[in-house]
Amino acid sequence: MTTHKLLLLPGDGIGLETMTEVERIIAFFNAQGGGHSFETESDLVGGAAYDAHGVAVTDACVATAKAADAVIFGAVGGPKWADAPYAQRPEAGLLRLRKDLDLFANLRPAICYPALADASSLKRELVEGLDIMIVRELTGGVYFGEPKEIVTLEDGGKRAVDTQLYTTREIARIAKVAFDLARKRGNKVHSAEKHNVMKTGVLWKEVVTETHKTYAPDVELHHILADNCAMQLVRNPKQFDVIVTDNLFGDVLSDEAAMATGSLGMLPSASLGAADEKTGKRMALYEPVHGSAPDIAGKGLANPIATIASFGMALRYSCGMSEQADLIDNAIAGVLADGLRTGDIMQPGMTEVGTSEMGAAIVKKLETLV
Ligand code: NAI
Ligand code: MG
Repeated sequence: MTTHKLLLLPGDGIGLETMTEVERIIAFFNAQGGGHSFETESDLVGGAAYDAHGVAVTDACVATAKAADAVIFGAVGGPKWADAPYAQRPEAGLLRLRKDLDLFANLRPAICYPALADASSLKRELVEGLDIMIVRELTGGVYFGEPKEIVTLEDGGKRAVDTQLYTTREIARIAKVAFDLARKRGNKVHSAEKHNVMKTGVLWKEVVTETHKTYAPDVELHHILADNCAMQLVRNPKQFDVIVTDNLFGDVLSDEAAMATGSLGMLPSASLGAADEKTGKRMALYEPVHGSAPDIAGKGLANPIATIASFGMALRYSCGMSEQADLIDNAIAGVLADGLRTGDIMQPGMTEVGTSEMGAAIVKKLETLV
C-alpha cells in the first residue's frame, strides 16, 4: 500500500466549498483501497490564515507543504481583507508557497469535454476531444528580469524597461518537464519562442533542442514561433499535445487555449518544482485557475470541477495514479454528458445543480466506473 501525503489548503471564499468536494473524492479512493491511500492534513492560507495568525501563510504551513507529496490549493482573497497590510494580503500566501517550493513549471491543461463543445468560442469540430497541455515557465523571464524600472528622462518624458532574461539551466529544466509530460501523453512537444527577433528565443530554441536529445526519438519536438502558435491555437488546436514556452508567452497562450473549454470553473492547473535527484519526487501545488469568487461564495453555487480536476492532476503527476486520474476525468465527462451543470456552465435544457450536488454526482459516477 502506497500512502500519499496531501496538504489541503482550501483558503477563502469558494475555495472552502470546492475543497469539500475534493475531500469526498479522496474518501472515495480511500474506501476503494487498491494499493493507494491518502493521508490528508489541512491548514489555513490567505485571508483565513491572516485572521487566525496575522500572516497569509505560516512557516509551519510552508514546511508541511514542502514535506507533502502534493498540495491541493483552493483559492484566496476577498473584500474582507482589502485593508490587510500589503505583505500579508491573501495572495501573498500563494506567492510565498510558489517561491519557497520553487514551483517553476506551471501546467495548464486545456481540455474540451464533448458535452461542453458548444460552449466553446470555437466551432465544435475544432474543439471536441481537445486535450492540450501548456507548460509555462513561471519563475523567470520578463516578469522578473532586472533592470525593471521607469526612469524620467531629461526632456520630461519617461522610459520604461522590462528585461527578458533566461539561463540555460532555467530553460533546460522546464524543457525536461515538458518532455517527461509528453511521454505520459501524446509524445509530442511544441516549443514556442521568437528566435527570429529575441536573443532569449535563440537560446531557448538551442537549449530545448539539446535537452530533446535524451528524449528522441520517442518524443517528437517541433519549434514554433509564439505568434504562429497563437494563430494555430484557434485555427487547428488539436494539432498540439504539449506546448512549452516562457513566462510571458505562456501567460497569454494558456489563457487563449483555456477559452476553448468554456468556463473558469472548469480549469485546473499544477505548479511543479524541481525533481529530487535521488527519488525523482517533485514538490507540487495543484489549484483551480479561478479565484475565491466573493460574488457567489458561501451560496453553494461554485463549480467544483476545476478543483476536482486539479486533484486529478495531483494523482497523475505526483502520486503515480494515472489510472485513477483518468477515472476522475471520465466521471467529470460523464456527469456533464448526463446534463448536470453548475450555474457558470448552464446551457438551455440542462439540469442546474449546486456545488455539493455536482461533487456527489461525480462520486456516484466514479462508483459506476471502477
Ligand atoms: P474569480 O476567479 O474569483 O471570479 C471571476 C468570476 O468567475 C466571478 O464572477 C466568479 O463568480 C466566477 N467564478 C470563478 N470561479 C468559479 C467557479 N468555480 N464556479 C462558478 N463561477 C466561478 O476572480 P476575481 O473575481 O477577479 O477575484 C476574486 C478574488 O479572488 C480576489 O480577491 C482575487 O485576488 C482572488 N483571486 C485568487 C486567485 C487564487 O487564489 N489563485 C486567482 C484569481 C483571483
Ligand atoms: Mg493570465
